[in-house]
Amino acid sequence: MTPRFYITTPIYYPNANLHLGHAYTTITADVLARYKKMQGYEVFLVTGADEHGQKIAKKAAENNQSPQVFVDYMVQKFKNLWEKLDINYQQFIRTSAQSHVETVQKIFTLLLQQDDLYLGHYQGWYCIACEAFSAASQINKINNSCQVCQGKLINIAEATYFFKVGKYTKQLLNYYEKHPLFLWPLHRKTEMINNFIKPGLNDLSITRTSFTWGIKVLENPQHIVYVWIDALSNYLTALGFLQADDRNFKKFWLEPNCEIVHIIGKEISRFHMIYWPILLMALNLRQPSAILAHGWIINEVGKMSKTKGNVIDPLILIERYQADSLRFFLMKEMVFGNDAKYSHELFLNCYNSFLANDLGNLLARTTAMIIKYCDGKIPTITLTKITNNETDIIDKIKKTISDFKMLMDQFHINEAINLVFELITVGNKLIDLTKPWTLYQTNQTIALHNILNLLGNILVIASALLSPILVKHSWEIHQQLGLVQIIMPTGALDLNGISNKVIKNPKILFPRLNIKTELTYLDNYFNK
Ligand code: MSP
Repeated sequence: MTPRFYITTPIYYPNANLHLGHAYTTITADVLARYKKMQGYEVFLVTGADEHGQKIAKKAAENNQSPQVFVDYMVQKFKNLWEKLDINYQQFIRTSAQSHVETVQKIFTLLLQQDDLYLGHYQGWYCIACEAFSAASQINKINNSCQVCQGKLINIAEATYFFKVGKYTKQLLNYYEKHPLFLWPLHRKTEMINNFIKPGLNDLSITRTSFTWGIKVLENPQHIVYVWIDALSNYLTALGFLQADDRNFKKFWLEPNCEIVHIIGKEISRFHMIYWPILLMALNLRQPSAILAHGWIINEVGKMSKTKGNVIDPLILIERYQADSLRFFLMKEMVFGNDAKYSHELFLNCYNSFLANDLGNLLARTTAMIIKYCDGKIPTITLTKITNNETDIIDKIKKTISDFKMLMDQFHINEAINLVFELITVGNKLIDLTKPWTLYQTNQTIALHNILNLLGNILVIASALLSPILVKHSWEIHQQLGLVQIIMPTGALDLNGISNKVIKNPKILFPRLNIKTELTYLDNYFNK
């Protein structure tokens, strides 16, 4: 049976343009989805827009638009960005879609019928920016601001339906304990337990009555469903849960051979690691395989965010340097789970060092030598005549392939990339060490052919491994080497599989950038 992989991003608020932080999350999900697809999985990637709630209603009003008209416009911008970034999603879920609205209403009815909800009154602090009722540990008591986003908290007092989450606490803790890889990085689990569960989980207010932009509770239409319950449900509604066509739900949630992974930013861990599993327990549904919380992109002002006004628009970088360069930078520089810094300088230096110098150079040198010394055809390797160094390189290739898989399976994308670049460095060093031009001049044909064949193989394997990240350029490398398909390499190496392929249209893959010129360009652009 084909293994399946269901992967999701958070659905983003369409109250402002997306920035590099959102791009990072979505690229991570896309890279993992592409990787799994190459491993033979049937993959379903969902991203989307979280369109309801007070924050969106407020923003639409500021724009003198109805919330629906406003979010329709913003969603087009989201989709445009994902297209430019080569995000290959299977479903874009919008919480204002009728199918989603109806399913959330059904979920609410189910919870009500099974006595998980009761009508009461909420009084306490609320953060509109996070759309969150603030737990005591999240309030900065000095000025009543939110410790997560530093935004001002408002005091709300309104009738509400409460979800009896406390009743599931024990089951949740048991689940954590029995599934050590459920929450990742591991310290998030400790944080959830110590900050939120141990102090006692209050019943969660899951409806609001003081505004109307949201999903109406059928049983009591003055109430609208709390935006986080609405939003979290997207992971099910995107698959057709409780809808007429629920084939994807059966395939990607119910079947046991499906791996389910949610990628989120660390600031929304509480919702995903506590309330989401509890909601699934209440619905009697299986849990995801893993919930992975990544760190933030930061710069000198702190977390990149719309409220701080320190955002970088990914479209500017894509237009000038192409999507692959940005995908590569974010995947190479961010250690999953940790914060990492963005600066134009870091981005440009990463491009020049790894893409232009290491990978680009290896391709340019190799294709030029194959054209000059072998009439443009990749030569055959004679395994009976290889040197010890070449045997070591073949072992290194095999080890790179198996270690890459191991690391990607554990979501260590940046380490996996580093391994591939070690291999690329081995290729560049092989050229420096063996000086193929002298072998040509002295007619050492077999030795020359062995080296050029190995270099071709390193390029094919490195670019195939990097293809979930460098979507267009890996394909370009394959085409330059005369190949018509990218195949995920396995341990069963056939070094002569590329022999006699004809080099086609060799050209510079990643032109070297003049850092000073580019910095001036970017600084002008972003400070405008
Ligand atoms: N709508 C909710 C999510 C609901 S999911 C059921 C939401 N939306 S958001 O527009 O605020 O997006 C938050 C997400 O954007 C983060 O969880 C993270 O994935 C991404 N990021 C936003 N800023 C970021 C950084 N500075 N760095 C990295 N990722 C960041 O929360």
